Amino acid sequence: MAESRPRVWVSQPLFDDIVDQLRAHCDVETTQAVTRYTSTDLAEKLASLEGALVTLNERIGAAEIARAPRLRAVANVGVGYNNLDTAALGAAGIAATNTPDVLTETTADLGFALLMATARRITEAEAFLRAGQWNTWSFTNLLGADLHGSTLGILGLGRIGQAIARRARGFGMRVLYHNRSPLDAKVEAELGASYVSFDDLLSGSDHLVLVVPYTPAAHHLIDAGALAKMKPTATLVNIARGGLVDEVALADALANGRLAGAGLDVFEGEPTVRPELLALKNVVLTPHIGSASLATRRAMVQLAVDNLLAALGFGPDAGRPPCLVNADALDAANAGGATAGDTKTTTIKR
Ligand code: DGY
Repeated sequence: MAESRPRVWVSQPLFDDIVDQLRAHCDVETTQAVTRYTSTDLAEKLASLEGALVTLNERIGAAEIARAPRLRAVANVGVGYNNLDTAALGAAGIAATNTPDVLTETTADLGFALLMATARRITEAEAFLRAGQWNTWSFTNLLGADLHGSTLGILGLGRIGQAIARRARGFGMRVLYHNRSPLDAKVEAELGASYVSFDDLLSGSDHLVLVVPYTPAAHHLIDAGALAKMKPTATLVNIARGGLVDEVALADALANGRLAGAGLDVFEGEPTVRPELLALKNVVLTPHIGSASLATRRAMVQLAVDNLLAALGFGPDAGRPPCLVNADALDAANAGGATAGDTKTTTIKR
């Protein structure tokens, strides 16, 4: 009897020519419209699948996989995967993957664009012009802060943070960073970046960019107390995840002159943006477009497709998805033995 093909679902419209590669091995259901799914929608969808290709819109944890006995792989199109409960997926024998590296430089570009736009008040200046307020050229109008010669703080000197540090060197900036632990001295020297404590990063930066992964422990890392330690002339840029910042405290600091400006690509309740932030002139707001160049978004989808196929046992990396993010949880589940009546055969090799 012919073996049945795995059923996979692609949760959002991506690039059909790339997604179609899945059809060589799988029965594929795609989606024509950008869709917001409830937890119940996702649980219903996942119930009959072996694999899913999802984006940060889809939050998948224990509740969503409770009725998905055949599910073997969830491939996230994104480097951040806080939308996935990787421990719950691993415990259920489901491989979870992400798309690192391919978006590093594009996301660093956007981070730098926001740093520049925020420091030089670009969107505020454009709004002023478009509103017909530019009646006389004024020497003191719309004065901003310099990037060149200033101190850039990077919270999270990982792949994207390092790409930002390389750009900062070209701008003649001094670079400070904070991570859980300092990087190798050679890497620091190459980047021209100096490790400082979290508090020193806050107080020493003229411009601070957040590139740290969002975890429950990092929730509201930038709260009222942290903002109070920053220079009132400083700017803050967030290209990581909205939950890192207490947006109410941020809006209050921006409205009351305790911080000069903020550039935000990510929001706690996205796609909803707090009215307090929308009302401010000294914020530059973009709708989570960090990795949104055509070439990079295509590369992300390709990597996610490669991950999914590999996790389902196809292609050159069969059984070895290139970007597995829950290896430990899968190992623990495998060590614990298969659940009675389990119909899946997840064989992730490492
Ligand atoms: C990511 O990859 O985590 C981005 O935020 C989504 O493009």
